Amino acid sequence: MSESNKNSGKLIVSPSELSEDQFNQIADFIQTNVGIKMPEQKRVMVQSRLQARLKALEMTDFNDYINYVFAGGPQSEEEIALMINVLTTNLTNFFREKQHFDYMVQNAIPELIAAGHTNLELWSAGCSSGEEPYTLSVVMQEYLRNNPGKLSDYSILATDISSRVLEKAMNAVYPMESVADISLDLKKKYFLKSKDKEAALVRIKPELRNKVSFQRLNFMDSSYPVPNTKHIIFCRNVLIYFDKPTQEAVIRKLVSHLVPGGYLFLGHSETIFGMDLPLKTVAPTSFKKI
Ligand SMILES: C[S@@+](CC[C@H](N)C(=O)[O-])C[C@H]1O[C@@H](n2cnc3c(N)ncnc32)[C@H](O)[C@@H]1O
Repeated sequence: MSESNKNSGKLIVSPSELSEDQFNQIADFIQTNVGIKMPEQKRVMVQSRLQARLKALEMTDFNDYINYVFAGGPQSEEEIALMINVLTTNLTNFFREKQHFDYMVQNAIPELIAAGHTNLELWSAGCSSGEEPYTLSVVMQEYLRNNPGKLSDYSILATDISSRVLEKAMNAVYPMESVADISLDLKKKYFLKSKDKEAALVRIKPELRNKVSFQRLNFMDSSYPVPNTKHIIFCRNVLIYFDKPTQEAVIRKLVSHLVPGGYLFLGHSETIFGMDLPLKTVAPTSFKKI
C-alpha cells in the first residue's frame, strides 16, 4: 500500500505494509528476547505500531527497517529498545485489582510483621508507567500512619523493559482523570495539583516518590540483578503475554527473590496451575512462598 502524495509542496510517503516474512522476523525476535507471544493475528498491530518508527527514521520500506534494526552495533541496540517500547502493551491504572491491596493490608503485612519483618521491601515487576508502584507507596504510607510503631520503613523497586514507560513513571505526572476514583482524602494526602489549572495534571508527592526506585529489567534475562530479600512482589498483567514455559521460568526467578513467607501477586487472569513452584495459594491470584 505504498502511496505518495503532494502536500504543501512536500513529498509525503507512507510506510509500506509488513509482509508475512518480515513480520515473522520481528515476531521471532520479540518472542525470544522479550517473551511476548506474537501470533500472525498481531501482524496488523505490529505493522501500525512500527510504521511510527519508520516515519521517525524517514524510511518507507520495512526491509530497510529490518536491516537497520538487526544490523548490530549501538544504533541497532537503540532502535531495538525503541521497537520494544512500541510493541509492549502498557495499560495500567491506580488501585487496579484493588483486592490485592486489601489483602496486603489485612493479611500479608500483619503476617510479615509477626514473622519479624518490619522494614518491608516491595517489587513492582512490570510496573509500566508507575501507577502500580505509586499505589503500593500510598498503601504503605497509609499502613504506617494507621499502625504507628509496627513498621520501621519500606522501599519499592519498580522495573520494566520499556524505557518509555519508565521515563513516565519517574516523572510521576498523571492526568487528573486517572485519579478520579481515588478518595478525596488520599488525593489530598498524596497528590499535588498542577498550578496551571488548565493543564489538569497531578503529581505524586515527594514523600511517596522517594520510596520508589526504578530500574530497566527484562524478564527474559537469565538472572535478575535484584536482592533476594523482597517481601512482596507484584507481577501483574505481564505473564499473560508469555507462553506457559516462559511464565513458569519467570515466576521461578521472581520467587527466588522473595524471603520465605513472602508474597507474590499475579494479574486476575494469570495462574500457576500445573506449575511446580514453592508457592501456596492464599487468595485468588495471591501466593505465599513456602
Ligand atoms: C499491561 S502492563 C501491566 C502494568 C501493571 N503491572 C498493571 O498490572 O497494571 C505490562 C508491562 O509489562 C512490561 N513487560 C513486557 N514484557 C516484559 C519483559 N520481558 N520484561 C519486563 N517487563 C516486560 C511492559 O513493558 C508493560 O509495561
